Formats: sequence, structure tokens, C-alpha cells
Amino acid sequence: MSTLQLKPLQPFAAEATGIDLREPLTLHQRKAVEDAMDQHAVLIFRNQPLTQSQQIAFAKSLGPLDMGLRKLKGGPHRLEFAELADISNVKVDGEVADRQHAKIVGNVANQLWHSDSSFQKPRAKYSMLSAVTVPDFGGETEFADLRMAWDELPHWRQLQVQDLNAIHYALHSRFLLGDTQYTEEQRNAIPPAIWPLVQTDPRSGRKILFVGIHACEIEGMTLAEGRMLLLDLMEHATQREFVYQHRWQEGDLVMWDNTATLHRGRWFDFGVRRELRRATTEEVVV
Ligand code: OGA
Ligand code: MN
Repeated sequence: MSTLQLKPLQPFAAEATGIDLREPLTLHQRKAVEDAMDQHAVLIFRNQPLTQSQQIAFAKSLGPLDMGLRKLKGGPHRLEFAELADISNVKVDGEVADRQHAKIVGNVANQLWHSDSSFQKPRAKYSMLSAVTVPDFGGETEFADLRMAWDELPHWRQLQVQDLNAIHYALHSRFLLGDTQYTEEQRNAIPPAIWPLVQTDPRSGRKILFVGIHACEIEGMTLAEGRMLLLDLMEHATQREFVYQHRWQEGDLVMWDNTATLHRGRWFDFGVRRELRRATTEEVVV
């Protein structure tokens, strides 16, 4: 039986080999993946191009699937499964979208540091992003470790934030980008989610500084003071020493834990095709 092998990367994350993601995971392999995620929070599988149904099957073996913002927008979808997020600058007709196309704002929003679906309950646990077509230049994805962020927070800050709650709202990042064309109904479709700023991972026991661009308010603080605190904490959490940058190759599958990391895409020329597909599981709280 093939077993998972890990090569740790700096400053966190690991390259994973030894299991074929096209095949159903054995119980042993599933446990190995979950344990590796507890430790490394980001796993890189190279040369594992998956069909859409293989990707869905792999994700389903790790938990119930999350739909993210798609339940808000509906509309035509390019992929075979509504549960697959189309992380691309490609229109339904298969052509690269022009810069004015509504889809591009989603590409831009992904370049802000975030945790997928932190604006909803349940939130996202694992995201599994598969690279179909990637540009030669730019378009990397970066990951920041929120456990490291907590560990390295000065003691006075830890005391200051340990009992605070943040309010996460789905459209906050869109509004920041000037994308405000939403109806009242769409604005209310996903009510804000409240998350403790500091959490203890039930599996690894590590503390996590749970920030990100969807957090827009601190309970019990003025908007201004709360937002400033969130900006300061984000700056701390995403300093270079805590960041792993992934340079994509076609066929990569990168998997991350949204409850322990932030991620963002980096600049690429929107005129050049970049096409990835994401399957996401929901966090199951036991
Ligand atoms: C995502 C995401 C960033 C990127 O798939 O959830 O934020 O680099 N992607 O495409
Ligand atoms: Mn994302």
C-alpha cells in the first residue's frame, strides 16, 4: 500500500508524495493526510492532474463539501459540479474574460489575504486547488501560518486580543474593491459570521490568530478601532517570515487548512489564461 511521504518546506507547508489522489483514499491514507495537515497546514502534491470528478471524490473523502460564494451568485457555471469553484479568468464560453468582465473582480478579490468562507458557519476547512493552466509569469499563491502568527505575537498583544470576537462578512472585500452592485437580497443572503480572534485547534492543540480580509469589525469596539486592530494583526500575520509562496506547475494540487492559514493569489496579467479549480470541505465541529 502506498503511504504518504512529506518533505517539509520553509517556513511551513510540505511537499507530499507517495499517494495517488485519483484513487479512493484508504482509511490509513486519509488519516495520514489529516495528520499531515495538522502539522504542516499546507500540502503540495506535484504532477497530480485530476479530472473534475476525481477532485470531487478526493475532497468528499475528507468532509462535506462547501459551496462558498456560489450559493449567492448562482448563474451559469463552467464546471461539471456546482461544488467546484472556478478559480479562473475564463468565461463560460471558454475564452479569457476581458478586464471589465464581472468575473475578474473575483480574481482580484482572491489577491487579498483571506481564509475561504470565513464569512459563513460552518466555515471552510480544507481547500484543494488543482492547476489546469498557469501563466509563465506571476500568479503565485501565498500562504501565511496563523499558528506562527499567534506564537510570535508580543505578549501584551496576546493579552489584548485573546477574548475578542471578529465579525466576518462575505461582501466586505468586494466593497473594498468598489464592487458594490449587489441587491439588498444578495447583501443579506449570507449573514455575517462571528469568530473568536484567538482559537485553539482541537486537533493540533495549537493557538491560531484567526484574521483575514473578511473580518470587518471587532465586537464591542468602534468600527475605526476594530478595523485598525484587524489591519495591524493582518500585517503581523503576513510578514514574509511566516509566508510560503507557491509557484504553480500544471497538475499541482495544493491543499490548505483554512482554519490555520491565510492565502492570497499574486499578480498576473489578466489577459493571460489562468485556470484552476477548487474543491472545499466544510469544517465539522464535533
Ligand atoms: C482560492 C484562492 C488564489 C489564487 O482558490 O481560494 O484564493 O492564487 N486562490 O488563485
Ligand atoms: Mn481563496
